[in-house]
Amino acid sequence: MAKITLRQLLDHAAERDYGVPAFNINNMEQGLAIMQAAKACDAPVIIQASRGARAYAHDIMLSKMMEALAEIYPDIPLCVHQDHGNNEATCLTAIRHGFTSVMMDGSLLADGKTPASYDYNVEMTASVAEMAHAVGASVEGELGVLGSLESGHGEAEDGHGAEGALSHDQLLTDPEQAVDFVMQTKVDALAIACGTSHGAYKFSRRPDGDILAMHVIEAIHQKLPNTHLVMHGSSSVPQELQDIINSYGGEMPQTFGVPVEEIVRGIRHGVRKINIDTDCRMAMAAQFRKVAVSNRAEFDPRKFLKPAMDAMRDLCRERFEAFGCAGNASRIKVMPLDEMARRYATGLLDTQVAASRAA
Ligand code: G3H
Ligand code: 13P
Ligand code: ZN
Repeated sequence: MAKITLRQLLDHAAERDYGVPAFNINNMEQGLAIMQAAKACDAPVIIQASRGARAYAHDIMLSKMMEALAEIYPDIPLCVHQDHGNNEATCLTAIRHGFTSVMMDGSLLADGKTPASYDYNVEMTASVAEMAHAVGASVEGELGVLGSLESGHGEAEDGHGAEGALSHDQLLTDPEQAVDFVMQTKVDALAIACGTSHGAYKFSRRPDGDILAMHVIEAIHQKLPNTHLVMHGSSSVPQELQDIINSYGGEMPQTFGVPVEEIVRGIRHGVRKINIDTDCRMAMAAQFRKVAVSNRAEFDPRKFLKPAMDAMRDLCRERFEAFGCAGNASRIKVMPLDEMARRYATGLLDTQVAASRAA
Protein backbone atom coordinates (compact mmCIF):
# COMPACT_ATOMS: atom_id res chain seq x y z
CA MET A 1 0.00 0.00 0.00
CA ALA A 2 1.47 3.34 -0.96
CA LYS A 3 -1.12 6.00 -0.34
CA ILE A 4 0.66 9.30 0.09
CA THR A 5 -0.51 12.70 1.29
CA LEU A 6 -0.58 15.66 -1.05
CA ARG A 7 1.74 17.56 1.27
CA GLN A 8 4.48 14.94 1.24
CA LEU A 9 4.23 14.51 -2.52
CA LEU A 10 4.30 18.23 -3.30
CA ASP A 11 7.17 18.80 -0.87
CA HIS A 12 9.10 16.23 -2.89
CA ALA A 13 8.06 17.88 -6.16
CA ALA A 14 9.27 21.25 -4.87
CA GLU A 15 12.60 19.82 -3.76
CA ARG A 16 13.15 18.36 -7.22
CA ASP A 17 11.42 21.07 -9.29
CA TYR A 18 8.68 19.08 -10.93
CA GLY A 19 4.90 19.29 -11.19
CA VAL A 20 2.36 16.54 -10.59
CA PRO A 21 -0.69 16.22 -12.82
CA ALA A 22 -3.86 15.61 -10.82
CA PHE A 23 -6.23 13.57 -12.95
CA ASN A 24 -9.95 13.37 -12.24
CA ILE A 25 -11.63 10.00 -12.32
CA ASN A 26 -15.14 8.62 -12.26
CA ASN A 27 -14.62 4.95 -13.08
CA MET A 28 -12.30 1.96 -13.09
CA GLU A 29 -11.00 2.45 -16.62
CA GLN A 30 -9.75 5.94 -15.83
CA GLY A 31 -8.09 4.70 -12.64
CA LEU A 32 -6.32 1.90 -14.49
CA ALA A 33 -5.26 4.20 -17.35
CA ILE A 34 -3.57 6.63 -14.93
CA MET A 35 -1.81 3.89 -12.98
CA GLN A 36 -0.62 2.12 -16.14
CA ALA A 37 0.86 5.39 -17.37
CA ALA A 38 2.50 6.06 -14.00
CA LYS A 39 3.96 2.57 -13.83
CA ALA A 40 5.36 2.88 -17.35
CA CYS A 41 7.32 6.03 -16.46
CA ASP A 42 7.80 5.68 -12.67
CA ALA A 43 5.65 8.69 -11.76
CA PRO A 44 3.89 9.40 -8.46
CA VAL A 45 0.15 9.92 -8.88
CA ILE A 46 -2.61 12.25 -7.75
CA ILE A 47 -6.07 10.87 -8.48
CA GLN A 48 -8.90 13.21 -7.61
CA ALA A 49 -12.64 12.78 -7.36
CA SER A 50 -15.15 15.60 -7.56
CA ARG A 51 -18.41 15.61 -5.66
CA GLY A 52 -19.98 14.61 -8.97
CA ALA A 53 -17.63 11.64 -9.27
CA ARG A 54 -18.46 10.51 -5.74
CA ALA A 55 -22.18 10.69 -6.49
CA TYR A 56 -21.71 8.89 -9.83
CA ALA A 57 -19.52 6.02 -8.65
CA HIS A 58 -20.54 5.76 -4.97
CA ASP A 59 -18.09 6.43 -2.15
CA ILE A 60 -17.62 2.77 -1.33
CA MET A 61 -16.88 1.84 -4.93
CA LEU A 62 -14.42 4.71 -5.27
CA SER A 63 -12.62 4.11 -2.00
CA LYS A 64 -12.28 0.38 -2.58
CA MET A 65 -11.05 1.06 -6.09
CA MET A 66 -8.35 3.39 -4.75
CA GLU A 67 -7.28 0.67 -2.29
CA ALA A 68 -7.20 -1.81 -5.17
CA LEU A 69 -5.11 0.50 -7.35
CA ALA A 70 -2.67 1.02 -4.48
CA GLU A 71 -2.45 -2.75 -4.03
CA ILE A 72 -2.00 -3.51 -7.74
CA TYR A 73 0.68 -0.82 -8.05
CA PRO A 74 2.51 -0.95 -4.69
CA ASP A 75 5.54 0.93 -6.03
CA ILE A 76 3.57 3.99 -7.14
CA PRO A 77 2.84 6.57 -4.41
CA LEU A 78 -0.85 7.39 -4.81
CA CYS A 79 -2.46 10.53 -3.42
CA VAL A 80 -6.25 10.30 -3.28
CA HIS A 81 -7.68 13.81 -3.30
CA GLN A 82 -11.12 15.41 -2.98
CA ASP A 83 -11.53 17.92 -5.79
CA HIS A 84 -13.52 21.11 -5.04
CA GLY A 85 -14.91 20.20 -1.63
CA ASN A 86 -17.71 22.67 -0.89
CA ASN A 87 -17.97 22.34 2.91
CA GLU A 88 -16.64 20.53 5.95
CA ALA A 89 -18.90 17.51 5.48
CA THR A 90 -17.66 16.82 1.96
CA CYS A 91 -14.05 17.04 3.09
CA LEU A 92 -14.43 14.99 6.24
CA THR A 93 -16.43 12.21 4.59
CA ALA A 94 -13.74 12.01 1.92
CA ILE A 95 -11.08 11.51 4.61
CA ARG A 96 -13.29 8.92 6.28
CA HIS A 97 -13.33 7.05 2.96
CA GLY A 98 -9.55 6.94 2.77
CA PHE A 99 -8.75 10.13 0.86
CA THR A 100 -5.35 11.44 1.94
CA SER A 101 -6.03 15.00 0.84
CA VAL A 102 -8.94 17.38 0.36
CA MET A 103 -9.60 20.64 -1.40
CA MET A 104 -11.76 23.04 0.57
CA ASP A 105 -12.88 25.40 -2.18
CA GLY A 106 -14.08 28.38 -0.16
CA SER A 107 -13.79 30.72 -3.13
CA LEU A 108 -17.45 29.81 -3.67
CA LEU A 109 -20.23 29.32 -1.15
CA ALA A 110 -21.37 25.77 -0.40
CA ASP A 111 -23.79 25.95 -3.37
CA GLY A 112 -20.70 25.78 -5.61
CA LYS A 113 -21.96 28.78 -7.62
CA THR A 114 -21.86 31.99 -5.59
CA PRO A 115 -18.52 33.77 -5.08
CA ALA A 116 -17.79 33.89 -1.35
CA SER A 117 -16.33 36.69 0.76
CA TYR A 118 -12.67 36.55 1.74
CA ASP A 119 -13.59 36.13 5.42
CA TYR A 120 -15.86 33.18 4.65
CA ASN A 121 -13.11 31.55 2.58
CA VAL A 122 -10.52 31.97 5.36
CA GLU A 123 -12.84 30.68 8.05
CA MET A 124 -13.98 27.57 6.15
CA THR A 125 -10.54 26.67 4.86
CA ALA A 126 -8.81 27.16 8.22
CA SER A 127 -11.45 25.03 9.92
CA VAL A 128 -11.02 22.16 7.43
CA ALA A 129 -7.22 22.45 7.64
CA GLU A 130 -7.29 22.15 11.43
CA MET A 131 -9.43 19.01 11.29
CA ALA A 132 -7.65 17.39 8.36
CA HIS A 133 -4.19 18.03 9.80
CA ALA A 134 -5.23 16.42 13.08
CA VAL A 135 -5.43 13.11 11.19
CA GLY A 136 -2.47 13.81 8.91
CA ALA A 137 -4.46 14.59 5.73
CA SER A 138 -3.53 17.52 3.50
CA VAL A 139 -5.57 20.53 2.46
CA GLU A 140 -5.69 22.59 -0.70
CA GLY A 141 -7.44 25.97 -0.58
CA GLU A 142 -8.44 28.31 -3.39
CA LEU A 143 -8.13 32.07 -3.56
CA GLY A 144 -9.66 33.88 -6.54
CA VAL A 145 -12.48 32.62 -8.72
CA LEU A 146 -11.88 30.46 -11.78
CA GLY A 147 -13.22 31.99 -14.96
CA SER A 148 -12.45 33.56 -18.30
CA LEU A 149 -10.64 36.89 -18.63
CA GLU A 150 -12.01 36.99 -22.19
CA SER A 151 -15.69 36.76 -21.30
CA GLY A 152 -15.61 37.93 -17.67
CA HIS A 153 -17.63 34.89 -16.67
CA GLY A 154 -17.03 31.80 -14.61
CA GLU A 155 -18.14 28.44 -15.81
CA ALA A 156 -20.96 26.48 -14.26
CA GLU A 157 -20.17 23.17 -15.91
CA ASP A 158 -21.56 20.10 -14.20
CA GLY A 159 -22.96 22.08 -11.31
CA HIS A 160 -19.68 23.55 -10.08
CA GLY A 161 -18.43 26.99 -10.98
CA ALA A 162 -19.25 30.65 -10.47
CA GLU A 163 -22.40 31.98 -12.06
CA GLY A 164 -22.69 35.46 -13.51
CA ALA A 165 -20.24 38.23 -14.33
CA LEU A 166 -16.90 38.41 -12.51
CA SER A 167 -14.50 41.34 -12.25
CA HIS A 168 -10.80 41.01 -13.02
CA ASP A 169 -10.19 41.44 -9.28
CA GLN A 170 -12.11 38.24 -8.68
CA LEU A 171 -10.63 36.39 -11.67
CA LEU A 172 -7.01 37.06 -10.68
CA THR A 173 -5.60 36.03 -7.31
CA ASP A 174 -4.13 38.98 -5.43
CA PRO A 175 -0.53 38.12 -4.37
CA GLU A 176 -0.70 40.18 -1.13
CA GLN A 177 -3.95 38.54 -0.12
CA ALA A 178 -2.45 35.13 -0.97
CA VAL A 179 0.22 35.65 1.71
CA ASP A 180 -2.41 36.47 4.32
CA PHE A 181 -4.58 33.53 3.19
CA VAL A 182 -1.80 30.97 3.51
CA MET A 183 -0.77 32.33 6.92
CA GLN A 184 -4.30 32.30 8.30
CA THR A 185 -5.50 28.98 6.89
CA LYS A 186 -2.28 26.88 7.01
CA VAL A 187 -3.17 25.21 3.72
CA ASP A 188 -0.66 22.79 2.23
CA ALA A 189 -1.32 23.97 -1.32
CA LEU A 190 -2.94 27.03 -2.82
CA ALA A 191 -5.09 27.00 -5.96
CA ILE A 192 -4.90 30.32 -7.76
CA ALA A 193 -6.98 32.03 -10.43
CA CYS A 194 -5.14 33.23 -13.53
CA GLY A 195 -7.72 33.07 -16.33
CA THR A 196 -8.12 29.31 -16.63
CA SER A 197 -11.53 27.72 -16.36
CA HIS A 198 -12.91 24.20 -16.32
CA GLY A 199 -14.09 22.40 -19.43
CA ALA A 200 -13.09 22.52 -23.10
CA TYR A 201 -14.08 26.11 -23.89
CA LYS A 202 -11.38 28.08 -22.12
CA PHE A 203 -10.08 30.42 -24.81
CA SER A 204 -11.33 31.50 -28.24
CA ARG A 205 -7.75 31.83 -29.50
CA ARG A 206 -4.35 30.52 -28.54
CA PRO A 207 -3.89 32.25 -25.19
CA ASP A 208 -1.43 35.09 -24.65
CA GLY A 209 -0.66 36.99 -21.45
CA ASP A 210 -3.87 39.05 -21.72
CA ILE A 211 -6.11 36.05 -21.23
CA LEU A 212 -3.81 33.56 -19.48
CA ALA A 213 -2.15 35.59 -16.74
CA MET A 214 0.99 33.56 -16.01
CA HIS A 215 2.58 36.74 -14.60
CA VAL A 216 0.14 36.48 -11.67
CA ILE A 217 1.58 33.07 -10.81
CA GLU A 218 5.08 34.52 -10.94
CA ALA A 219 4.08 37.38 -8.62
CA ILE A 220 2.46 34.98 -6.13
CA HIS A 221 5.50 32.70 -6.20
CA GLN A 222 7.77 35.65 -5.45
CA LYS A 223 5.75 36.43 -2.33
CA LEU A 224 5.22 32.79 -1.33
CA PRO A 225 8.28 30.91 -2.55
CA ASN A 226 7.59 27.92 -0.29
CA THR A 227 3.90 27.51 -1.03
CA HIS A 228 2.83 24.81 -3.46
CA LEU A 229 0.65 26.43 -6.14
CA VAL A 230 -2.15 24.62 -7.95
CA MET A 231 -3.44 25.35 -11.45
CA HIS A 232 -7.03 24.31 -12.06
CA GLY A 233 -8.59 24.19 -15.50
CA SER A 234 -5.28 23.06 -16.96
CA SER A 235 -6.37 20.84 -19.80
CA SER A 236 -4.62 21.65 -23.05
CA VAL A 237 -7.62 20.64 -25.20
CA PRO A 238 -5.35 19.16 -27.90
CA GLN A 239 -6.26 20.02 -31.46
CA GLU A 240 -5.76 16.41 -32.52
CA LEU A 241 -8.43 15.25 -30.06
CA GLN A 242 -10.85 17.92 -31.29
CA ASP A 243 -10.14 16.69 -34.82
CA ILE A 244 -10.78 13.01 -34.02
CA ILE A 245 -14.02 13.88 -32.22
CA ASN A 246 -15.20 16.03 -35.11
CA SER A 247 -14.16 13.60 -37.81
CA TYR A 248 -16.33 10.91 -36.23
CA GLY A 249 -19.55 12.85 -36.04
CA GLY A 250 -18.72 15.26 -33.19
CA GLU A 251 -19.61 18.93 -33.34
CA MET A 252 -17.13 20.62 -31.02
CA PRO A 253 -16.63 24.27 -31.95
CA GLN A 254 -12.97 25.28 -32.35
CA THR A 255 -11.47 25.98 -28.95
CA PHE A 256 -8.13 26.40 -27.16
CA GLY A 257 -6.80 25.16 -23.84
CA VAL A 258 -3.73 25.84 -21.70
CA PRO A 259 -0.60 25.06 -23.75
CA VAL A 260 1.67 22.49 -22.07
CA GLU A 261 4.61 24.96 -22.41
CA GLU A 262 2.72 27.49 -20.26
CA ILE A 263 2.21 24.85 -17.57
CA VAL A 264 5.90 24.01 -17.70
CA ARG A 265 6.60 27.74 -17.24
CA GLY A 266 4.27 27.67 -14.23
CA ILE A 267 6.20 24.73 -12.77
CA ARG A 268 9.33 26.93 -12.87
CA HIS A 269 7.38 29.39 -10.70
CA GLY A 270 6.03 27.19 -7.93
CA VAL A 271 3.15 25.33 -9.62
CA ARG A 272 3.25 21.80 -8.22
CA LYS A 273 -0.25 20.39 -8.88
CA ILE A 274 -1.89 20.63 -12.28
CA ASN A 275 -5.56 19.67 -12.54
CA ILE A 276 -6.59 17.81 -15.69
CA ASP A 277 -9.99 16.32 -16.39
CA THR A 278 -11.22 17.55 -19.78
CA ASP A 279 -8.24 16.19 -21.77
CA CYS A 280 -8.86 12.70 -20.36
CA ARG A 281 -12.57 12.94 -21.15
CA MET A 282 -11.75 14.01 -24.69
CA ALA A 283 -9.16 11.26 -25.19
CA MET A 284 -11.74 8.65 -24.19
CA ALA A 285 -14.70 10.20 -25.99
CA ALA A 286 -12.67 10.43 -29.22
CA GLN A 287 -12.19 6.64 -29.15
CA PHE A 288 -15.84 5.96 -28.31
CA ARG A 289 -16.84 7.98 -31.37
CA LYS A 290 -14.24 6.33 -33.56
CA VAL A 291 -15.36 2.81 -32.64
CA ALA A 292 -19.04 3.70 -32.91
CA VAL A 293 -18.62 5.16 -36.40
CA SER A 294 -15.99 2.73 -37.73
CA ASN A 295 -17.71 -0.43 -36.57
CA ARG A 296 -21.43 0.15 -36.46
CA ALA A 297 -22.16 -3.47 -35.54
CA GLU A 298 -20.08 -3.30 -32.34
CA PHE A 299 -21.89 -3.51 -29.02
CA ASP A 300 -19.37 -4.96 -26.55
CA PRO A 301 -18.55 -2.10 -24.13
CA ARG A 302 -15.00 -3.40 -23.76
CA LYS A 303 -14.38 -2.75 -27.46
CA PHE A 304 -15.15 0.91 -26.76
CA LEU A 305 -13.48 1.13 -23.37
CA LYS A 306 -10.17 -0.57 -24.16
CA PRO A 307 -9.04 1.88 -26.88
CA ALA A 308 -10.41 4.71 -24.75
CA MET A 309 -8.36 3.52 -21.78
CA ASP A 310 -5.24 3.19 -23.95
CA ALA A 311 -5.70 6.73 -25.30
CA MET A 312 -6.07 8.12 -21.79
CA ARG A 313 -3.02 6.16 -20.64
CA ASP A 314 -0.92 7.69 -23.42
CA LEU A 315 -2.16 11.20 -22.63
CA CYS A 316 -1.38 10.78 -18.92
CA ARG A 317 2.09 9.53 -19.68
CA GLU A 318 2.77 12.56 -21.90
CA ARG A 319 1.79 14.87 -19.03
CA PHE A 320 3.87 12.92 -16.46
CA GLU A 321 6.86 13.31 -18.75
CA ALA A 322 6.28 16.94 -19.74
CA PHE A 323 5.91 18.04 -16.10
CA GLY A 324 9.12 16.29 -14.99
CA CYS A 325 7.13 13.93 -12.76
CA ALA A 326 8.33 10.76 -14.50
CA GLY A 327 11.17 8.97 -12.74
CA ASN A 328 10.23 10.21 -9.26
CA ALA A 329 7.97 7.49 -7.86
CA SER A 330 10.87 5.27 -6.83
CA ARG A 331 12.58 8.21 -5.09
CA ILE A 332 9.76 8.65 -2.56
CA LYS A 333 9.42 6.78 0.71
CA VAL A 334 5.80 7.18 1.70
CA MET A 335 5.14 8.58 5.17
CA PRO A 336 2.08 7.23 6.99
CA LEU A 337 -0.77 9.56 7.94
CA ASP A 338 -0.02 9.15 11.67
CA GLU A 339 3.48 10.48 11.16
CA MET A 340 2.13 13.40 9.12
CA ALA A 341 -0.34 14.14 11.95
CA ARG A 342 2.48 14.10 14.49
CA ARG A 343 4.47 16.53 12.36
CA TYR A 344 1.53 18.94 12.03
CA ALA A 345 0.95 18.74 15.79
CA THR A 346 4.56 19.61 16.56
CA GLY A 347 4.67 22.48 14.03
CA LEU A 348 7.17 20.70 11.78
CA LEU A 349 5.03 21.38 8.72
CA ASP A 350 4.51 25.07 9.41
CA THR A 351 7.36 26.12 7.14
CA GLN A 352 4.98 27.64 4.56
CA VAL A 353 3.63 29.95 7.22
CA ALA A 354 7.07 30.83 8.51
CA ALA A 355 8.28 31.56 4.98
CA SER A 356 5.35 33.79 4.18
CA ARG A 357 5.81 35.73 7.42
CA ALA A 358 9.40 36.35 6.45
CA ALA A 359 8.40 37.59 2.94
O1 G3H B 1 -13.93 20.40 -11.12
C1 G3H B 1 -14.00 20.08 -12.30
C2 G3H B 1 -13.76 18.72 -12.77
O2 G3H B 1 -13.64 18.74 -14.16
C3 G3H B 1 -14.79 17.75 -12.29
O3 G3H B 1 -15.94 17.80 -13.04
O4 G3H B 1 -17.86 17.85 -11.44
O5 G3H B 1 -18.13 16.93 -13.75
O6 G3H B 1 -16.85 15.67 -12.05
P1 G3H B 1 -17.27 17.02 -12.53
P1 13P C 1 -10.00 20.90 -16.89
O1 13P C 1 -11.48 21.03 -17.17
O2 13P C 1 -9.22 21.96 -17.62
O3 13P C 1 -9.49 19.56 -17.17
O4 13P C 1 -9.77 21.20 -15.33
C1 13P C 1 -10.04 20.23 -14.37
C2 13P C 1 -9.97 20.78 -12.99
O5 13P C 1 -9.51 21.87 -12.72
C3 13P C 1 -10.52 19.92 -11.93
O6 13P C 1 -10.50 20.55 -10.68
ZN1 ZN D 1 -10.89 22.60 -10.63
